[in-house]
Amino acid sequence: MENLFRLVDYEDMFSKRCIWVNGPVIVGAGPSGLATAACLKQQGVPFMVLERAECIASLWQKRAYDRLKLHLPKQFCQLPNLPFPKDFPEYPTKKHFIDYLESYAQKFEINPRFNECVQCARYDETSGLWRVKTVATCGAAKSEFEYICRWLVVATGENAECVIPEIEGLGEFKGDVIHACEYKSGESFKGKKVVVVGCGNSGMELSLDLCNHNASPSMVVRSSVHVLPREVFGKSTFELAVLMLQWVPLWLVDKILLVLAWLVLGNMERFGLKRPSEGPLLLKNTKGKTPVLDIGTLEKIRSGDIKVVPEIKRFTNGCVEFVNGEKQDVDAVVLATGYRSNVPSWLQEGEFFSKNGFPKSPFPNGWKGNGGLYAVGFTRRGLSGASSDAMKIAQDIGQVWKQETRQKKQRTNACHRRCISQF
Ligand SMILES: Cc1cc2nc3c(=O)[nH]c(=O)nc-3n(C[C@H](O)[C@H](O)[C@H](O)COP(=O)(O)OP(=O)(O)OC[C@H]3O[C@@H](n4cnc5c(N)ncnc54)[C@H](O)[C@@H]3O)c2cc1C
Ligand SMILES: NC(=O)c1ccc[n+]([C@@H]2O[C@H](COP(=O)([O-])OP(=O)(O)OC[C@H]3O[C@@H](n4cnc5c(N)ncnc54)[C@H](OP(=O)(O)O)[C@@H]3O)[C@@H](O)[C@H]2O)c1
Repeated sequence: MENLFRLVDYEDMFSKRCIWVNGPVIVGAGPSGLATAACLKQQGVPFMVLERAECIASLWQKRAYDRLKLHLPKQFCQLPNLPFPKDFPEYPTKKHFIDYLESYAQKFEINPRFNECVQCARYDETSGLWRVKTVATCGAAKSEFEYICRWLVVATGENAECVIPEIEGLGEFKGDVIHACEYKSGESFKGKKVVVVGCGNSGMELSLDLCNHNASPSMVVRSSVHVLPREVFGKSTFELAVLMLQWVPLWLVDKILLVLAWLVLGNMERFGLKRPSEGPLLLKNTKGKTPVLDIGTLEKIRSGDIKVVPEIKRFTNGCVEFVNGEKQDVDAVVLATGYRSNVPSWLQEGEFFSKNGFPKSPFPNGWKGNGGLYAVGFTRRGLSGASSDAMKIAQDIGQVWKQETRQKKQRTNACHRRCISQF
């Protein structure tokens, strides 16, 4: 351990902004980072949370549309050690969820360093430590920091960056073009012809919202999609699937879900929504493609208020041309084309994470790498997956931490003058 402190002192000679962190550095203050921090707190392990935005849960506070509600019942979305308040509805709104996360951070005294974007993190083989470089922004001023720590927890999310597709002529299109992450409400699209590119949960819900605000949406479906009812006979479809999976193999649960979907929603193929050949749960597990939980969009498709259109060929002179040759006037475009992980852009590591920014080992092994590296919230299992990762990570680090602090107490007291952490 003495060597470690010597390394920090050496760095300090060159830069006043090199900071030794007692315990792990957690990158990201979304639900995953907060859950990990809270679980570490319970284990008595100090930590440091770094967040590029100026608030916790920036995806929910800054990049989500107004009408957003959790699609799954609340018991599947709460984080460890703090249930949702009893008066929350079955499907909490965005505001409920943000309020809950704020009180979560407060309860567990999680105080991230905001406006600090991690630019690079690498493992130093010689010292056995992580070196995490950030740029902190304060108004127009920027400063650089380097954190040195024993453990690194990646909590930057599966949806860190927007996917912007390359479509011929889109750059020259004169109308508004926004990504779903910038969309707040259909209010500003009233009376406009809007092309929504993508038919995942975002594309479906934004099309519905546009429709409810008297815009005319056309939703682009370029391949296939599983649409399931959010509830079947008053029971959450997700909950039913979780229950069935305890007794029945996945392929059979998939078949049952499709029969139920057919009973509740009818045949959607005649409206242009083709189902993939693999079942919804298999597809989610193998390709990470989330099934859409319908909350009213299908009714609007059936009534013709939302048009389903094929893949776009190009944009020309305020017009969109589809691959089937049809053309349509268009005033605005909403790209509901999804998100991606940003891990490869800052984590210098090629063993644990693959090029797509997700851990190489599939669930349930994708939470722990070598050299004190951890990942939380990358199992494509939403908030419940993040909670389960967080608990495993905290327990793992906690065990080592307790062992080492016991040993350290027995030896001479090390002097940690420069330590900054949350404890
Ligand atoms: C519109 C929408 C609705 C969703 N609804 C649900 C739902 O109902 N139920 C569900 O289970 N899941 C839902 N999801 C999935 C959702 O992303 C997760 O459940 C949840 O937000 C994941 O939390 P996270 O902390 O892993 O990631 P995020 O919430 O994305 O948080 C990651 C944090 O890391 C920060 N960060 C990223 N890069 C850096 C960096 N380099 N340096 C510092 N900080 C960084 C980001 O600013 C962000 O605050 C939804 C996703 C979207 C897009
Ligand atoms: N309330 C909620 O719970 C809620 C609401 C919204 C989102 N979410 C979650 O947030 C995550 C992201 O969802 P999302 O809907 O934003 O993204 P997504 O599920 O990744 O869907 C992206 C969609 O865009 C399409 N697409 C991508 N590039 C395209 C192109 N060039 N041309 C045409 N279509 C293109 C995809 O089609 P292909 O299938 O052909 O690739 C797909 O239909 C998911 O986990 C989702 O469940 C949850």
